[in-house]
Amino acid sequence: MRIGADYYPEHWEKERWKIDAEMMVKANIQVIRIGEFAWSLYEPTEDMYDFAWLDEALDYFNQYGIKVVLCTPSATPPKWMTDKYPDIFQDDIHGNAKVFGTRKHYCFNSDTYRQKTSVLVHKIAKRYANHPALEAWQIDNELGWSNTTRCYCDKCKKKFQMWLAEKYKTIENLNQKYGTVFWSQIYNSFEEVIIPKAGACYDTCHDTQGQNPALLLDYYRFCSDSVISFMNESVAVIKQYSEKPITTNMLDAAVNSGTGIDYFKCSEKLDFVSWDNYIEFQWGIAEAATVSRDHALLRSYKKQPFWVMEQQSGACGWSKMGPTPTPGKLRLWTYQAVANGADTVVYFRWRACPFGTEEYWHGILNHDGKPNRRYEEIAQIGQEMESLNKTLGALQPKARVAIIKSFDSEWSHSIHKHVEGFQYDRLLLAYYKPFYEMGIAVDFVTAGENLESYDIVLAPALLILNDDDKKNLEQYVEKGGKLFISFRSGIKDEYNNMRMETVPGQFVDMAGIEVHDYDPQFEKHTEVSGVFGRGRATLWCDIIEPVTAKPLGVYTEDFYSNSPCLTVNRLGKGEVYYLGCDLDDTAMKNLMKYLGEKANLPIDLYEISGVEITHATDDEKEVIFIMNHNTYPVVVAMKKPYRDLLTDLDIQDTVTLQPYGVAILE
Ligand code: GAL
Repeated sequence: MRIGADYYPEHWEKERWKIDAEMMVKANIQVIRIGEFAWSLYEPTEDMYDFAWLDEALDYFNQYGIKVVLCTPSATPPKWMTDKYPDIFQDDIHGNAKVFGTRKHYCFNSDTYRQKTSVLVHKIAKRYANHPALEAWQIDNELGWSNTTRCYCDKCKKKFQMWLAEKYKTIENLNQKYGTVFWSQIYNSFEEVIIPKAGACYDTCHDTQGQNPALLLDYYRFCSDSVISFMNESVAVIKQYSEKPITTNMLDAAVNSGTGIDYFKCSEKLDFVSWDNYIEFQWGIAEAATVSRDHALLRSYKKQPFWVMEQQSGACGWSKMGPTPTPGKLRLWTYQAVANGADTVVYFRWRACPFGTEEYWHGILNHDGKPNRRYEEIAQIGQEMESLNKTLGALQPKARVAIIKSFDSEWSHSIHKHVEGFQYDRLLLAYYKPFYEMGIAVDFVTAGENLESYDIVLAPALLILNDDDKKNLEQYVEKGGKLFISFRSGIKDEYNNMRMETVPGQFVDMAGIEVHDYDPQFEKHTEVSGVFGRGRATLWCDIIEPVTAKPLGVYTEDFYSNSPCLTVNRLGKGEVYYLGCDLDDTAMKNLMKYLGEKANLPIDLYEISGVEITHATDDEKEVIFIMNHNTYPVVVAMKKPYRDLLTDLDIQDTVTLQPYGVAILE
């Protein structure tokens, strides 16, 4: 484990580099990320290149043994380029071209932009492939940031039509799969197919404009594929010159729903994944559980250690700031990342910049560049890690529980939301949280991957499931797995059309139930009772008729009072649970505890609210991270003696943690 900083040598006088490098070394900062927005320095005018500034910076920091993550600068096309080739701009959903001034305003399907990017990436990769400071590459910056995955320009329209032709072969086939007979939408050729711009329905203000759901889902897939293929072009270029690992910095899961990139697919060609973790800033304050969930997602995309490429290190915002991190929080957030599987945490940014949009965005250092209490805290982390590394290798939690995350389902849910208030991401979090609170690690998986290492696989609202994935889940259960399915699972086909089988469609046999009636909870709620105690559904109620399954819970209100809301069905050596409704937090927690006990998971008796407990292993040793997210001290009871690797003290039956305190127990 180690720490780094995002650094912009081009923002500072060269005379300052010395102080920066020395301060970094002193704080044990081992890696810096450089160059993601520097196109106008690399290529100040068309086809005129300048690498002197970067040569000098890399050589300089190399003298101090500081490693570098070097970025491709495609996030910010230079002014001369947008002037000369205005067609590289994206069009937003209203058809307005984006304008110069911030970033990520280019179209992923612009041949001009792809070609320009490729030429520059060739040059950068060739020049720096063997530089001794080079440690890794980052492609672009935050692909899909701020609604930029989905572009609505004519280039995208043409490429989309080609993408459709490749997928459907004939227009008749597309018409049939899209159900274009509905509302006179039948197309005579692929060239007629539209892209779902705004403007179809004005007054109802539906975000999807009432467009055909099959068209929308395909467009979302196409846009995700476009970003990934743009990224993969740069990956392929770098690989021609360099064997150093390649990554890109992803966004958190909450933003990710809006980002619209399938991160499982996006990860395939990357050597490792990384993400940017802002917790308390202009755009919101994240709960510790959601940050843990985001780390879990990242470790899951490739099932290997990941990096935090930007970790908040000061008060931040563009026009308004969030709070400054209270003393202890930088350290807590850093260990939270490590406890959940990160092996490198890079702070954004080394020093606050005096100019530009982010003049308020504080880094480790303030504008004045002097050591401060945040720097001291980070230096403490750097020292601690140095000593931890003497006894520990790369740590990963070994999860026995997994949640299926399906990007197809996510996008389909976002197109037609079923009922007011439904959000796929939030539902997944509702399943993640009880395990988080119980100190049980959860991975995220696709329905198609090997699931054998998990005792429990949860599939909340797994709307779309192809036949191969279905078979995979069946086999998982037959061999002894516990599969947990919820309402709105298995009922759509891959074209985003409703299946004609009885609900829950693909899962009817597995779950051993039929659902002939359901009650969306619009401005109502329904009480339930079962193995989870009493509870309440506020989104959805499937009225379940067991066929081979047996009930574990019932509704206690309305015309379906006494009908099952929760069932279990035996299949081979395993079991399939089906929950027809959502549940409030307490009932959900009880239910996941019940399930955990059935699977013999070690449920921590001494759970304390706001205390995160993570078990991680380097394959030889197992350590327990105990992290206090509370503003007050806590005393945690332990079941056996441990040694705290941070203080080197023996722990007998309790460990006391200060506010935002951390213990790493072996
Ligand atoms: C991230 C971005 C950084 C910086 C930071 C603060 O989204 O990758 O470059 O802009 O946020 O806004």
